[in-house]
Amino acid sequence: MKKYIIAIDGPGASGKSTTAKILAKKMAYIYIDTGAMYRACALNTLTENINLKDNEKLAKMLEKIKVEIEYSQNGNQLFLNDINVTKRVREADITKLASEIATIGIVRTKMVDLQRKIGENGGVIMDGRDIGTVVFPNADFKFFMVADVKTRAMRRWKEAKKKGEILNLDEVEKELIWRDNNDSKREISPLKRATDAIPIDNSNLTIEEQVQFILQKIKQKKDKK
Ligand code: DC
Repeated sequence: MKKYIIAIDGPGASGKSTTAKILAKKMAYIYIDTGAMYRACALNTLTENINLKDNEKLAKMLEKIKVEIEYSQNGNQLFLNDINVTKRVREADITKLASEIATIGIVRTKMVDLQRKIGENGGVIMDGRDIGTVVFPNADFKFFMVADVKTRAMRRWKEAKKKGEILNLDEVEKELIWRDNNDSKREISPLKRATDAIPIDNSNLTIEEQVQFILQKIKQKKDKK
């Protein structure tokens, strides 16, 4: 059976990764969180003390950087130069830096290359900002998830609370707005819906409803073939 490439794009905290993880499990596909790859790059510039404006150093860093994902239905593990950084890259300093580093052309070229190699054989659900527009413009399925910013901020707040962290809800909202702007106004591969991507506003949908919606779209297309 053909193994599809499924692209899910959308802004931060729009429910892409939660949905993609469940779908991957149901379909026995691998899940690739491309944001994590930009986060790993950002962390590397911190540990190697590289100024994002220093193109030469950045290029050298990109030549030898090793970003690897170990796939598991129980949660992928992210490795940066052989060190497990899965948890570290979720911290606030990296969230901001990842959005900044993702504006740089040479960084995107390297990451897109890696993403294409991982996904080219299909059987993959990839989430990010530019998967349907740039990484896999010919993906078999494209979805673009959105939710209003207050809903997204509350989701982030609840996620943190589950981990024992109490955040300031206003700050979370401000940070999301800043990132929405930075990710969608950059020159290279900005966050935007591919014209042929199916939009999903999940502000008032449960996770199960989103997953069912996507599964149904996949089934409908399969039935048509
Ligand atoms: O999905 P995320 O929040 O972990 O992504 C972190 C940052 O990486 C995000 O602010 C924008 C950038 N990113 C990107 O530019 N392109 C992608 N395909 C994925 C993420």
